[in-house]
Amino acid sequence: MNLFTLFTSLTCIFLFAITLASPLHTNATTTLFQYSTTGTWLENIALGPPSTNTLLVTRMDVPELWAVDTIAHNATRVATFPNATACMGITPVDEGIYAVVAGSLVITDIGHPVEGSWSVYTVDVSAISDGEAPVRKVVDLREAGWLNGMTLFPDRVVLIADSVNGVIWQLDARTGEYSVALNDTASMAASPTDPLGLGVNGVRVWKEYVYYSTDSRSAVFRVPVGWEKTTKRVVAAGPVETVAQDVVVDDFAVAEDGTLYLMAIAENEVVRVTVDAGKEVLVGAKERREVAGCTSAVVSRDGRRLWVTTNGGHIVPAEGGEEPAKVVEVVLE
Ligand SMILES: *[C@@H]1O[C@H](CO)[C@@H](O)[C@H](O)[C@H]1NC(C)=O
Ligand SMILES: *[C@@H]1O[C@H](CO)[C@@H](O)[C@H](O)[C@H]1NC(C)=O
Ligand SMILES: *[C@@H]1O[C@H](CO)[C@@H](O)[C@H](O)[C@H]1NC(C)=O
Ligand SMILES: *[C@@H]1O[C@H](CO)[C@@H](O)[C@H](O)[C@H]1NC(C)=O
Repeated sequence: MNLFTLFTSLTCIFLFAITLASPLHTNATTTLFQYSTTGTWLENIALGPPSTNTLLVTRMDVPELWAVDTIAHNATRVATFPNATACMGITPVDEGIYAVVAGSLVITDIGHPVEGSWSVYTVDVSAISDGEAPVRKVVDLREAGWLNGMTLFPDRVVLIADSVNGVIWQLDARTGEYSVALNDTASMAASPTDPLGLGVNGVRVWKEYVYYSTDSRSAVFRVPVGWEKTTKRVVAAGPVETVAQDVVVDDFAVAEDGTLYLMAIAENEVVRVTVDAGKEVLVGAKERREVAGCTSAVVSRDGRRLWVTTNGGHIVPAEGGEEPAKVVEVVLE
């Protein structure tokens, strides 16, 4: 072996080592599924039933619910909703049963809702036949301006953010009874100077707290809550706290330990917030496509992965332009 060959071999080994090592330094992401056309918009996400490997994702460009297989990396439509153009929030309410928000809006720069068009349905994904899950209307929530993020307040009701009215509704998905649960103008209403006029957007429950993001406040808040038995209402049980600021957040996920994963939709970044480390970018960057236009996320049951939905970077396209909507898996350490 001459010196040149030795040098070449060593270089190859060295490059090979770098290639192997690099994923460890790049917050590994994998695209589980991506549509084939731009203009697609995934808006929200829930874990499928525990007996499946599926994620349930809602579309905002069409009134459809899709199931994504996290092992096979494919997806299929499982439900459509009548007299609507879009789906928004989704949350499990019972075994195999999910509540889904559907209504009408027009997508330009962002979505512009038809006020009064919003309804909540339940979908039974354990009873899919011929590719269609049974859909049942729970209620038309005529007073709502734009029903957006939705989450379960365990064993009681679902909570739904209304981005136009700046309130969080509670709804009994069995009876259809609903009322305003939380209405804190300072943290939930759109700021009067905000041209987009978007108030509270995402909502999640963690322990005794309701967390919510408010776009026009560029912040995420939380408020301790209780259940008032006589009135059957979720009520604030303490002051509102700010848990993240200077970040415009669409939806977000909360891990079991309280770590927050915020979808900084116009930054094309997933931002992690922990008590110890504060706020840091977990993955993405404005010019990068990894999580361009991230809209919502959910943490896997084992806590080791974060599944993120995107709109393809519709609001602020990454380098190379808007791409089709996708579901991305981020490995958490
Ligand atoms: C994915 O593909 C597998 C194998 O073809 C199929 O069994 C499964 O139902 C598909 N899942 C979805 C969500 O389409
Ligand atoms: C369909 O939606 C429109 C707009 O929200 C509403 O005015 C109309 O009453 C709905 N029709 C039916 C049959 O639900
Ligand atoms: C929320 O509270 C404000 C201020 O008290 C009130 O004006 C508004 O009507 C409330 N919104 C709803 C939907 O109840
Ligand atoms: C990975 O995450 C760290 C913070 O957790 C961040 O500083 C870094 O920019 C991220 N890398 C990529 C490629 O997004």
